[in-house]
Amino acid sequence: MNTPQLAAGIGILAFRQLSGIAAFHKIVIRFYLGVVDITMTEPILDIRDIRVRYAGLPVIHGLSLTVGQGETVCVVGSNGAGKSTLLRAIMATQRTFEGEILFKGKAIHGLKTEDIVRLGIIYVPEEKMLFGPLSVEENLMLGAYVVQDKQRIQQNLDFVYSLFPRLEERRRQAASTLSGGEQQMVAIGRGLMSNPEMLMLDEPSLGLAPILVDEVLDTVGRLKKEGMTILLVEQNVREALVLADRGYVIQTGKIVAQGSGKELLDSDLFRSAFLGI
Ligand SMILES: Nc1ncnc2c1ncn2[C@@H]1O[C@H](COP(=O)(O)OP(=O)(O)OP(=O)(O)O)[C@@H](O)[C@H]1O
Ligand SMILES: [Mg+2]
Repeated sequence: MNTPQLAAGIGILAFRQLSGIAAFHKIVIRFYLGVVDITMTEPILDIRDIRVRYAGLPVIHGLSLTVGQGETVCVVGSNGAGKSTLLRAIMATQRTFEGEILFKGKAIHGLKTEDIVRLGIIYVPEEKMLFGPLSVEENLMLGAYVVQDKQRIQQNLDFVYSLFPRLEERRRQAASTLSGGEQQMVAIGRGLMSNPEMLMLDEPSLGLAPILVDEVLDTVGRLKKEGMTILLVEQNVREALVLADRGYVIQTGKIVAQGSGKELLDSDLFRSAFLGI
C-alpha cells in the first residue's frame, strides 16, 4: 500500500472511529435521561421561522426545523408542499425569505450558494444534473472544486469508491449510460467529494424502479452509519421514516407534525394523510 492509500485508509478509519464514539455518547445520554429527543447538543442546522414567496405568493409560512450533528432527518409532505423550496432556501438558490437559517451557529441566510457549499452543506437536487458525456470519475471530480488539497481529493474519491464499489468498476464509463440508481450514486458521490458536513438529498429515489429505490435508500443508510448528517426529502415515506432518526411532515408550507420516525409512522395524522388508513 502506498502512502496516499495508507493516509486515506487511516482517514476513513479515524472518521468511522469518531462517528462511533459520537453515536455511543448519544446513546448513553438518551439512556441516562430516558428521552427520545436527540437534539441535546446544539443543532448543526437551525431553521427559525422562515417564509418564502414566489413572485409575492407565500409558499412557506413560518417554518422551523433543526438537524442535530450526525442525525438523519426526513422531511415528508405531498406534492407542492414546499419541500424542495425549503432545501433551495437553505442553499440560497431561492433567496426570497424572512427568518433565520443558522449552520453551526452561524447565520447563513444572505450568503451566496458557493459560500454555503464552502461551509459544508451539499444539496443533491431532484434532477441529478450529471454531465452525460463525461465519465463517472470526471463527474465525481467536479464535486471537488472547493477542495484545494490533492491528497484530500484522492481520499474523498477513495471514500466514495469504498461506499459505491460499482462506481469504481465503472469509473471510465459515460455517466449517461449508467442505470438510474447508479446515476443517483454518482450525484451523491459528487456531493461527498467536497467534504460536506451535511448532505441534503431531494427525493433521491424519484423515478426509480422499486429494487433501485431500496438500493438508493440503503446507500443513505450506509452514509448515516458513517456518521454523516443528512436532511432527506423522500416520497417513499415509510422507508425513509424507518431510516431516519426524526421526521417532519410539511403541509402547504407549514410543519404539521414532527417526531421520531416511529412516532410519525404510528401517528393518526400521518396514517390518514400518507397511508390512507
Ligand atoms: N419557481 C417557482 N415559481 C413559482 N412557484 C413555484 C416555483 N417553484 C415552486 N413553486 C410552487 O411552490 C410550491 C412548492 O413547490 P416545491 O417544489 O417546493 O414542492 P415540493 O414539496 O418539493 O413538491 P414535490 O413533491 O412535487 O417535489 C408549489 O405550489 C409550486 O408550484
Ligand atoms: Mg420537490
